[in-house]
Amino acid sequence: MKPEILIVDDAAAVAHAAAADFARHCRRSVAEHSACSVALAGGSTPAGMYALLATNAALRDAVPWEHLHFFWGDERHVPPDHPDSNYRMAHEALLSRVPVAENRVHRIAGENPDAQRAAEDYEQTLRAYFALPAGVFPRLDLVLLGLGSDGHTASLFPATPALAEGERLVVANPVARLHADRITLTVPVLNHAARVVFVVSGRGKAAALQAVLEGAHLPERYPAQLIAPVSGSLAWIVDRDAAHLLGGQSAA
Ligand code: 6PG
Repeated sequence: MKPEILIVDDAAAVAHAAAADFARHCRRSVAEHSACSVALAGGSTPAGMYALLATNAALRDAVPWEHLHFFWGDERHVPPDHPDSNYRMAHEALLSRVPVAENRVHRIAGENPDAQRAAEDYEQTLRAYFALPAGVFPRLDLVLLGLGSDGHTASLFPATPALAEGERLVVANPVARLHADRITLTVPVLNHAARVVFVVSGRGKAAALQAVLEGAHLPERYPAQLIAPVSGSLAWIVDRDAAHLLGGQSAA
């Protein structure tokens, strides 16, 4: 399925469009199977979207919060109260401000000193929630992703071992450039989602976005190119600054 590419004016418009898409798709998932499982993106871009979902009455009221379960696409190898924690960002911006019970929030235990053990534990969390037989990938209803200026997404960084993982659901991924391990959902899990939405904002992402969407297929260099849902939809919600190198965009 060809990706939807929505180019909007600025970061605030990205946040609003992504929040509206979130509400729409969660309602659709609940209508179809009385539940909606969401994997949240980390980093800074989604924070505006998360805050809107918590504070904009029209958007907040459009989300069937009581039917949602929250997961993460990836986590830094830090405790949940660490400034770099993706859980902490989402908890502060969204989860502490909307009616979601704690047992519906499934964070990655970044505090575990053994990152691979944290990955294995999270894999069991996914297998238990989705009641997965061995060898079956979960179908998350919605996966939110960001894009790094180097073309990474989740914690799938260029030339790292996680890119080749085809069986496990979650791995610890050593990222030499960061001198750190990350814990990340693997490509097959992301590609089994019902819907994947990238949110991208800012001129700093323009070169990576153009390379991912229009460049040669070089997934080791641009891991976001690996994201192609096998039987789901893919959308890119980006602002003009991030999109300005895309073909057909004005040079502005
Ligand atoms: C993370 C994210 C990562 C992020 C990109 C973009 O843990 O950081 O999973 O993939 O989405 O690095 O980050 P920004 O939104 O901060 O630019």
